[in-house]
This record gives sequence, C-alpha cells and structure tokens, in this order.
Amino acid sequence: MALGRITHRKPDFTFDEEFEKHWLGGSAFKTHFLNSLTLIFPAGEKYFIRSVKNVLSRVKTKKLTSEAKQFIKQEIQHSIEHEKFFSVLEKQGYEIRPLLKVIDNLVSKKLEVFFAKESNISITAGLEHITALLAEISLEENFLKEAPQKIQDLFNWHAAEEIEHRSVAFDVLNDVDPRYEQRLIGIIIAYIAMSTFAGVCTINLLHQDKMLFKKKTFQDFTSMFFTDEKLFFKAISIFFRYLDPDFHPDKSDVDGLTKDIFNKFQSLKVA
Ligand SMILES: [Fe+2]
Ligand SMILES: [Fe+2]
Repeated sequence: MALGRITHRKPDFTFDEEFEKHWLGGSAFKTHFLNSLTLIFPAGEKYFIRSVKNVLSRVKTKKLTSEAKQFIKQEIQHSIEHEKFFSVLEKQGYEIRPLLKVIDNLVSKKLEVFFAKESNISITAGLEHITALLAEISLEENFLKEAPQKIQDLFNWHAAEEIEHRSVAFDVLNDVDPRYEQRLIGIIIAYIAMSTFAGVCTINLLHQDKMLFKKKTFQDFTSMFFTDEKLFFKAISIFFRYLDPDFHPDKSDVDGLTKDIFNKFQSLKVA
C-alpha cells in the first residue's frame, strides 16, 4: 500500500429491517463470533485512535502524520457503523449493554491506564495486524457469503479498510519505539486481549440463546477453528509472521482483495 492512499468513506448503513437471529448460515456459533466482533470493535477502535493521537507529535514525516489522520477518520467511521448494528441485536432480544460496559472499562480504565504510551501504540499495532489478517482471510474465503447482503457489506467494507490502513499503526510504532521487544509485548497483549474479549462475548451471547452446550455449537466451533476455516492454525501463523524481525505489513500483496469492495463504495469518498 502506498502512503497517501487512505480514503475516508462514509457508507452510512441503516439496519431498519429484521434479520434472523442466526444470520450467518443459521449457525449460532458463527453468528455470535461475528456479533462479538461488532461489540468489541467500537471500544477497541476508540482505544486505537487515542493510542495514535497520544504519539502523533512524535511521528517523523508529514506523510505518515497525514496517513495517521486518515486512519483515525476510518476508525471513527467503523465505530459509528458497527454501533448502528447494536440496535439489531437489542431488537433480537440480546442484553448487550453490560457487555459493552465491561469491554469499555477493561480497555479504557485498565489496559490503557496500565501501559505506557509506547506500549499502547505497540498493542494497537498488534491488534491492527490481527484485524488486517482476519480481514484478508475473511475476504479471500468469502466467509460471510451466507449472511444477508447488508451485513456482508458492513463487514466487507470494514475488512477492506483494515487492509488499506494495515501499515499505519506499525509505522507509527516504528517512529515512536522501534525496539523489537516493544513489538513483541504488543502482539502478545493483543492476542490475549482479542481472544479473551471475543471468547467472553461469544460465550455470553450463546448463553443468552441457551445454545452454549449444544452439539451443533460445538460442531460449528470445531469447523471454524480446526477443520474447515482452520482459524486456530491461521491465528498461530499470523502470530509468527509478526515475529519475523523483517516483518512489514506492506510486504503482503493483498490490495487486489479490496478492489471490488472499494468500487462498490466509491461514491462515498469524503476525503
Ligand atoms: Fe476498524
Ligand atoms: Fe484498523
């Protein structure tokens, strides 16, 4: 990705229609895994924005400063659009506010306060690495093909922009604190945080559905993580890719995956 090419788009989704509770191919597990990401994203993205803003004055080039500003605009828009989906979950009868409060408290009052600015930007870079590669896997495998079109559009637009801005937090980290051990701490905390939050939210939503201990839930979990989509093994390889001292997000040639999606959203450019 060439610097200077991050575009702020405003898709302005509306979710007035009714969706089936298990909107992803009738699978409670797969649906709630994606729902859990929707619950996590806004708190996570606000944390990314604060982490980048806190060190923005230490970024060494105008080019990266301008990329970081576009990154912030994109992440604000992601939060806005995913928060709109909260009303769908509430209409479906899910109690999500306590979960949102716990996530927000843990992120803003524990994680962020406990770590220094350098570590927060490192954790942000780690989480951005995970989201960009999840985005890559999801678009490559058309993971949401069984979802309603509007939900596909929400996740695919977000995934494409995660790919588009995948190098920003990493480059900011390198300007602020290029030490390898700082990068390592960031990715370890990022993995712990992401898997804990996604796991707790998915379990909670399944519990609300009384689907937690069903055979089908276990089968879908096994299929997604170990046998079909193999997310567990991909997560391990994503982790090790980041440990390579020569790693840089731009080394993966994935911009082709986003072309059709950005063409669809072209009229929505605002910056
Ligand atoms: Fe995002
Ligand atoms: Fe992002």
